[in-house]
Amino acid sequence: MDGSQSKLAFYMECLKNPKRVGAIAPTSAWMARKLASVIRPENGLPVLELGPGTGVITKAILNRGVAPENLVSVEYSKTFLSTLRQRYPGVNFVYGDAFHISRIAREAGIDRFDTVVSALPLLNFPAADRTILINRILDLLGPGRPMVQFSYGLSPPVPAQAGRFSVRHLTTVMRNLPPARLWLYYR
Ligand SMILES: C[S@@+](CC[C@H](N)C(=O)[O-])C[C@H]1O[C@@H](n2cnc3c(N)ncnc32)[C@H](O)[C@@H]1O
Repeated sequence: MDGSQSKLAFYMECLKNPKRVGAIAPTSAWMARKLASVIRPENGLPVLELGPGTGVITKAILNRGVAPENLVSVEYSKTFLSTLRQRYPGVNFVYGDAFHISRIAREAGIDRFDTVVSALPLLNFPAADRTILINRILDLLGPGRPMVQFSYGLSPPVPAQAGRFSVRHLTTVMRNLPPARLWLYYR
């Protein structure tokens, strides 16, 4: 699938499930590289991607030096998944709901990831659910290792929770439609 076919697949999925896709255009390669820059491949731990969609971020994660077999990627759309599996052989693509991440990780035999890279449309979930999700994800990260998430608003999609997790602004990416902010979540 080339770039224009990927875009077509994205817009078709947007029409079917606008709330679930939660974006007006695929992530730019520029933003994907920024997200992947947070990964420390030298740690040798697996990386978790949530909501790969057309695979722009998947590609950036692999280009960062993560071996395909060290990447677990959870996607809810079967349409995206069949293309992703052809395009990135060796990556552990899981058909599932990111909210079930504790079970998905357990079934993959993983209790620690180096980094979680999330393209989930968090703002489309109820606020209480977002907080539950962040806590579940951070339970799978080692000390000092982050979950990176982008959003289109000025403030983080989930505010920090005193004593549970913190959030900080990494950067704003103008070369994306629309421009987006990258947020780092830590225990
Ligand atoms: C903003 S789009 C990702 C766009 C992607 N970076 C791209 O450029 O194609 C969000 C993705 O998250 C997926 N998604 C939404 N809710 C999900 C959930 N609860 N579990 C897993 N994937 C989910 C959607 O199917 C979609 O592929």
